[in-house]
Amino acid sequence: MARLTVNGKAFDVDVETDTPLLWAIRENVGLTGTKYGCGIAQCGACTVHIDGVPTRSCSVMVGDAAGKEITTIEGLASNGSLHKVQKAWIDHDVPQCGYCQSGMIMAVAALLKAKPNPTDADINAEITNICRCGTFQQVREAIHAVASA
Ligand code: FES
Ligand code: FES
Repeated sequence: MARLTVNGKAFDVDVETDTPLLWAIRENVGLTGTKYGCGIAQCGACTVHIDGVPTRSCSVMVGDAAGKEITTIEGLASNGSLHKVQKAWIDHDVPQCGYCQSGMIMAVAALLKAKPNPTDADINAEITNICRCGTFQQVREAIHAVASA
């Protein structure tokens, strides 16, 4: 059993503390926007923010996330308004199949918070999420659009 704080709400989840956080978010908390891709911290599909830090939730244990502020894609919008990254994703038609995009958006939101005007080198270094549909160019354009807005 552990208490997780997800998108500002507390959830008591009845799982072993060494359960991957991704599964607790999806199966116990019931938020399925966060996706499973590889399970080994490589693809980024499962990216959430933990205390504001972009984190691959497949590779964090529930016990290590307890007591911290977890934000998922469902919690990124605030007061009914989409986050600026979500808006840019719509404006620039970034998603193709969409599977990787929750994680991609969470990673980009964290990057832009840390570096509001990232260079291409910053983007290459920080956004290492894998998109099998190859949306990388659209991702880059949308990031620059947010930065210059
Ligand atoms: S599922 Fe977590 S990084 Fe791929
Ligand atoms: S949009 Fe399909 S995997 Fe990225």
